[in-house]
Amino acid sequence: MLVLGLSGAFSPEDADLAPNMDGSFHDAAACLIRDGELVAAAEEERFNRIKQTNKFPINAVRACLDTAGVAPSQIDAVGHYFAEYAVDLALDSIYIDNPGIPRRASRELITGYLGGELGIEVPYDRLLYSEHHVCHAMSSFIRSGMKEALVVVMDAQGERNSTTIYRGRNEQLAKLGTYGASKSLGWFYEESIHLLGYRLGDEYKVMGLAPYGNPATYRDLFSSMYKLRDQGDFELKMDHNAFLLKGFAPRRAGEEFTQQHRDFAAGLQHVLEETAMHVIRFWAEQTGLASLCFVGGVAHNSSLNGLLLRSGRFREIFVHPASHDAGAAEGAALAATYKLGSYRPGTTPPARPRLRSASVGPGLGTASEIEKQLMAWGDLVEYSLPADVVAESARLLASGSVLGWAQGRSEYGPRALGNRSILADPRPAENKERINSMVKKREAYRPFAPVVTQEAAEEYFHIPTQTQANYEFMSFVVDVRESRRAELGAVTHIDGSARLQVIDPDTNPRYYRLVRTFGELTGTPVLLNTSFNNNAEPIVQDVRDALTCFLTTGLDILVIEDFLVRKRPDRELAFDNLIPEFRPVTRLVKRLRTTLDGKRAVAHEIYLDHLKGARAEISADAFALLETVDGVRSLASLSVTAGGLGDDIRHELYRLWQGRFFLLRPERL
Ligand SMILES: [Fe+2]
Repeated sequence: MLVLGLSGAFSPEDADLAPNMDGSFHDAAACLIRDGELVAAAEEERFNRIKQTNKFPINAVRACLDTAGVAPSQIDAVGHYFAEYAVDLALDSIYIDNPGIPRRASRELITGYLGGELGIEVPYDRLLYSEHHVCHAMSSFIRSGMKEALVVVMDAQGERNSTTIYRGRNEQLAKLGTYGASKSLGWFYEESIHLLGYRLGDEYKVMGLAPYGNPATYRDLFSSMYKLRDQGDFELKMDHNAFLLKGFAPRRAGEEFTQQHRDFAAGLQHVLEETAMHVIRFWAEQTGLASLCFVGGVAHNSSLNGLLLRSGRFREIFVHPASHDAGAAEGAALAATYKLGSYRPGTTPPARPRLRSASVGPGLGTASEIEKQLMAWGDLVEYSLPADVVAESARLLASGSVLGWAQGRSEYGPRALGNRSILADPRPAENKERINSMVKKREAYRPFAPVVTQEAAEEYFHIPTQTQANYEFMSFVVDVRESRRAELGAVTHIDGSARLQVIDPDTNPRYYRLVRTFGELTGTPVLLNTSFNNNAEPIVQDVRDALTCFLTTGLDILVIEDFLVRKRPDRELAFDNLIPEFRPVTRLVKRLRTTLDGKRAVAHEIYLDHLKGARAEISADAFALLETVDGVRSLASLSVTAGGLGDDIRHELYRLWQGRFFLLRPERL
């Protein structure tokens, strides 16, 4: 039985259905399972190139079908990651606030999208909605390889609950307890980080800031906002004003962090850890279960996961690589499979192994397809096919190069795990700043993470021995051994910790061989691994994304499968023969603006029309040129009447390309 799972909301590619559309339904993704086995999964953001997009996952569905070689008519059923009543209630509230939008139920929207361009006809009884926390729980428990486990779902909110506890046994879930929305650790965290200039989707950044702060500074204030109760219960209430009245100065996005902000982050992380541990400890004692599946957005808090590891409460812990809502797409497909009676009650389900690889997205194409693209980008790059690209890459890394590294199928979940990664030498502490300025442009405090070979892991890191865990997905923060901290200068965080990925030769042989060869050359079988993207985009998906990121950042080398790609010297701005293409969300606007001294002036702007979309003011010349973009003519052709591309406009276009306001493609593709 082939079942498609969906997460996300209902906006089309080119415009948001409503301004507040992503309030309840985010992390759009699609997942395809066959008889319960994971065949393909991908997040929509990788295709529409909007970070954490909430749009209907139309591209992700198409990618799953293509990757699996499945025709639309072969899909037996579709699963959705929320209960139908909850989806339609949320939509109704949007329709009330936005009377211009036609009133359509979610079922009509979903079948409309699937039946339209995609050609997937879904009969009424084959579109199955499931409770949100059931979806999270299924994705984690079924992939854990565990026969029996305590399954803890903790996120901002499902239909009504923020935390749900299950006992998983033989692929069945039994609900043991729930916590209402007023006890949402996810919402508490999200509301709190607002005072740090962050918003929904930024939670993981605060976790990295916490070790710089002192949790004692705001202990009294935070203590007044939560109370742990008997029976694993607790109360929780965020009070912004209490902090403001005590002189806390909130940060606005883009501003520097003060010690107040660091102390606040430390205090907040402490509340999360103490409360989550209180809940999980209670249910572990109550059930006597020694295996834990931890899932939901909160399970991406790898510092908390590290604490769970070190608590010694469990014999084994599993964290799904997509514990946020994108992973619930897989759970929705699994839940639908079970509802349709794929397994008869009482029969023993097949033994499933633990999920060890998150690389279940689309690949990069055949060698000849990749080479054709590299040739087409020949004005800007040159490439070679080394006899052993892995050995050559290890040598380049050892000599200080920072690599963009793309191979195989893309990862499901927010982490680059060696198939769409930026890799570097983890030893020089200055590599952190170097990578930040050359490509990531992110907050300086945020740590980079290490990947280590399985055989060297214990030599470099404190891996708890009493608790087994899945370290493939970078889900756990552990301590770097003190004797190794100076050696791992670029990946050891301020408190001596690291968010670790351990790899073995079976799961990802090529990536494993790269790290091992680097170890043979340098004596350190560890690499710095961070996601392959700049600050304006999600992780790269295909060859064009990889080339675009390579060409608009300071990355030294690009490796795509067996090809080693270099920039042609001094050709950075030689994009005359490339064709600019607007993204579906790109908008050009000319508007009258009144200046402070009362004068009226024309402003030229380009922006990306989605929530959190970037906006930039541009020159009249750039505006005039971009107005003529038709997706057919090259920049050289578009600028003929202006006498070609002048230096100023060339630099301006490069900055806009860096910001992904438009994309470029070669004529020959
Ligand atoms: Fe969720």
